[in-house]
Amino acid sequence: DWKMQDVLDEEIKTIRSMVGPDEHVICALSGGVDSTVAATLVHNAIGDRLHCVFVDNGLLRYKEQERVMSTFDSDLHLPVTCIDASEQFLSKLKGVKDPEMKRKIIGREFIAVFDDFAHMLEKKLGKRPEYLVQGTLYPDVIESCPPPGSGRTHSHTIKSHHNVGGLPKDMKLKLIEPLKLLFKDEVRKLGSILNVPESFLKRHPFPGPGLAVRVLGDVTEGNALEVLRQVDEIFVQAIKDAGLYDKIWQAFAVFLPVQTVGVQGDQRTHSNAVTLRAITSEDGMTADWYYFERQFLVDVVKKICNNVRGVNRVCQDITSKPPATVEWE
Ligand code: XMP
Repeated sequence: DWKMQDVLDEEIKTIRSMVGPDEHVICALSGGVDSTVAATLVHNAIGDRLHCVFVDNGLLRYKEQERVMSTFDSDLHLPVTCIDASEQFLSKLKGVKDPEMKRKIIGREFIAVFDDFAHMLEKKLGKRPEYLVQGTLYPDVIESCPPPGSGRTHSHTIKSHHNVGGLPKDMKLKLIEPLKLLFKDEVRKLGSILNVPESFLKRHPFPGPGLAVRVLGDVTEGNALEVLRQVDEIFVQAIKDAGLYDKIWQAFAVFLPVQTVGVQGDQRTHSNAVTLRAITSEDGMTADWYYFERQFLVDVVKKICNNVRGVNRVCQDITSKPPATVEWE
C-alpha cells in the first residue's frame, strides 16, 4: 500500500527530527492495535531509546496482563516493563459514579504512573525521558475535542477519551501521536507494513479506561469487575469459536448495577443483570448492532448463567450509534 508506506516514511522522519539523538521516549502499551502499531513505528524510528510500559490498572479483561505480556515478548520483540498499579487506580475510583469523572481520574492516574516510570528511567539512564507516545486516532481527536475547521459540528465533548481530553494540562511529558490523522483501518494497514502480527491487528478495540466504562457506576462495588471479566470471556470466546470474531468490530459485556429476581435450581435468586454488546462499524464513529443467530445466543446465555455466580439475567444491547455510543459510559 503506497499511501501507507508514504505515511510511515513521513512519520519516521518527523519523529527522528523531533526527538534529539540522546533523548528518550516512553510508550504506554495497552495490548491493543493502536498503541502496538504506534510503539512499533517509534521503535523503527529511534530504536532502543524507546521504553515501553504496560500498566495493569485493575480494569483489564480476563487474564489480559499475562496474555498481552507474553505476546509482546514472543511476537513483537518490544522491550516492555509491566507495572501493576491496580491498587492505585481502584482506590482513586472508589465511590465514583460519574462517567466523565471516572475517565478523568483514570487519565490522571495513567499520567502519574508514566511520571513514576520516567523517574525510574531517569535513575537508570541518567537522563529523563521527554516524550510520551500515544496511539491516538483521528476519531478520538474529533470526538474529544473537534478541531476547528474539521467540519464537525458538535462543540461539546462526547467523552473524554483518556488519551486525549482526559490528560492533565500540567503533564510534563510531550506527546508523540503518530496515528493522530488516521482511521482504524489505516492503522491496521500501517501495522501490516511494520510486520505487526495479524493476530494483533485483528484484535477488537478496547477503551483506555478499560472495564471502568463497562461497569456502570462505582467499579469497586462488590465483585462487579470479576463478574464482568467472566461474562466477557465467555461471550468473546463463544464468538471466536463460532468463527465470528473477524466479522464483528467489537464485542463485550457490560455489568449493570441492577439486581433482578430469578429462579435457578428451584431457588429464588436476587442477582445481577449483564448486557452483551456486539457491533459492526467502519471506524467506530457510527455503528450498527450485530445480529446473532438464535442458537448462538441461547448457548451463550445458558453458559453465562450456569457458570458465573451472581448473574441471573442477560440482556442484549440492540442500539446503534447514534443514538447510543459504543461503550456505555
Ligand atoms: P464510543 O463509546 O465513544 O466508542 O462510541 C468509540 C470507540 O472508541 C473506543 N473508546 C476509547 N478508546 N480511549 C480509547 O482509546 C477511550 O477513552 C475510549 N472510549 C471509547 C470504544 O471502545 C469504541 O471502539
